[in-house]
Amino acid sequence: MIGILDSGIGGVSVLCEIIKLIPCGKFIYYSDSINNPYGDKSEEEIYSIVKNIVNYLLKRKCVAIVLACNTASAICVKRLREEYPNTLFIAIEPAYKMVHDYNPQDKTLVMATKGTLNSEKFLALYRKYDNGKTILLPCRGLADIIERGDMAKVDIYLEENLKDYKDVNNVVLGCTHYPLIKDRIKRVLGDVKFFDGSIGVSKELVRQLKLRDIKFCSSDKLSIEFIDSSNDLTKKSRFMKLLYRK
Ligand code: DGL
Repeated sequence: MIGILDSGIGGVSVLCEIIKLIPCGKFIYYSDSINNPYGDKSEEEIYSIVKNIVNYLLKRKCVAIVLACNTASAICVKRLREEYPNTLFIAIEPAYKMVHDYNPQDKTLVMATKGTLNSEKFLALYRKYDNGKTILLPCRGLADIIERGDMAKVDIYLEENLKDYKDVNNVVLGCTHYPLIKDRIKRVLGDVKFFDGSIGVSKELVRQLKLRDIKFCSSDKLSIEFIDSSNDLTKKSRFMKLLYRK
């Protein structure tokens, strides 16, 4: 069983890519919507929340845990790897290196939570690949309104907060909730190129499982157990709809 966690249903954007590579895997997806948003909480608070979920997933015998949340990854993964040396953690990060690899000459907007952008992990990545034409935009509250599914509010938010960046060509979606609103971002910014970490993290998961000889297609069909910490019954149906949308 592979555990996947996020502060809500946003990590579905990661699971979509994972199941393309592991179509017959067994997954538990933990949507911690009761604690959404993580992005504005203190590092200690986020660590303790994430640690509880990790303990639960380990109790459920997960062979790997995917942090499908940029904020949790940025703040917790180093400490988790130290505290649980025998557990395989796969952590997403904003795909800023992809900009460096594929389109470094263009003006770039990195959208992420405040927690991600202020983290040492992200700052190290940014310093390494800085193209000199990058704006770091903490999108306070955006993950929260996406999580609630309030698309009218999302549109108002994007219009207000992105209006000064209509000249960018690259947009790094540094929060797993943001790929869910790509089309709405395009309505404000035009035909930008998007970069997000979900494909990279999925490939890394498969690579690490193979390296450790862990069997990851254990059943003959895909199985996804969805858990939501706020017991909101609408979450599962939204999640499944997003997972299988074309
Ligand atoms: N999906 C989470 C991330 O990637 C949302 C952050 C939040 O809960 O603030 O950062």
